Amino acid sequence: MNKISCLLVVIAGFSGALRAEIDVDKAKEIYGPCAACHGQFGAGGKKGEYPRIAGQHARYTYEQLKNFQSQHRLNLPMFPYTKERELPEEDMKLVAAWLETVELPTRMPTFNGDEDALTRLNMVEKVMIVPRAEGDVAAGGKVYQEHCGGCHGRQGKGRGMFPMLVGQYTNYLKKQIDAYRRGERPHEDETASEGILYQVSEDEIRNVLAYLTTLQNAD
Ligand code: HEC
Ligand code: HEC
Repeated sequence: MNKISCLLVVIAGFSGALRAEIDVDKAKEIYGPCAACHGQFGAGGKKGEYPRIAGQHARYTYEQLKNFQSQHRLNLPMFPYTKERELPEEDMKLVAAWLETVELPTRMPTFNGDEDALTRLNMVEKVMIVPRAEGDVAAGGKVYQEHCGGCHGRQGKGRGMFPMLVGQYTNYLKKQIDAYRRGERPHEDETASEGILYQVSEDEIRNVLAYLTTLQNAD
């Protein structure tokens, strides 16, 4: 099977799983061990050493889990959790589909007075705001809309196989861009960003990352 038809089979199988109703309890159970690093709500942590995975597109998440499993994307902390025995195919699809539905607000909640202390704490803990990154926002916006927005979305929210970039830790994004540019994280088909990412300068990347942090409250 060539790469394209292989990909199509994966997509076909996957959208089937997506259409099925999500068993939230089962998904949370599968997610249990992931929380140790990615946090209770999938917000990641340690300033992006652990990326945010809540709200990310299911298809992208699923593909990355497959990439970790096959070690196409090398990561020592992630690898053991993606082994077939730990995370069978069905569980991988389910946890990816569920994570897409987990919303992390970018504004502090307003309480209506009925919430108990734990509910309030959880509401506050779910808020995820990436700190403003340094750089020329206007210049970054121009580069982003010209070179990145076509795939990652005008508001940085991505779709399908194109990951959401907005609301992700700046450090993590920078680390991934560096990995792509060094050829460590491979792009395997012609729609990937490798070409573009090689053409922009370090300054332009910095500005794009600064711009992305300004999009978090855009609707
Ligand atoms: C021991 C810590 C650890 C555990 C447990 C863990 N991860 Fe991760 N995960 C990481 C690290 C570190 C990265 C970032 C890898 C990198 O920098 O390339 C990551 C990256 C990811 C990514 C890629 C995000 C992106 O934007 O590309 C996904 C998806 C993911 N993890 C899902 C999971 C799921 C689902 C589980 C549970 C089955 C899990 N992880 C368990 C540490 C962990
Ligand atoms: C032609 C479509 C396309 C364009 C244009 C594009 N990207 Fe991407 N990008 C992708 C795809 C597809 C992936 C996921 C690839 C993979 O599996 O690793 C990706 C992944 C990424 C990631 C990793 C996200 C994560 O969660 O790990 C970053 C960061 C990124 N792109 C930044 C950019 C920037 C910045 C630009 C503009 C300079 C850009 N991309 C332009 C398609 C594109």
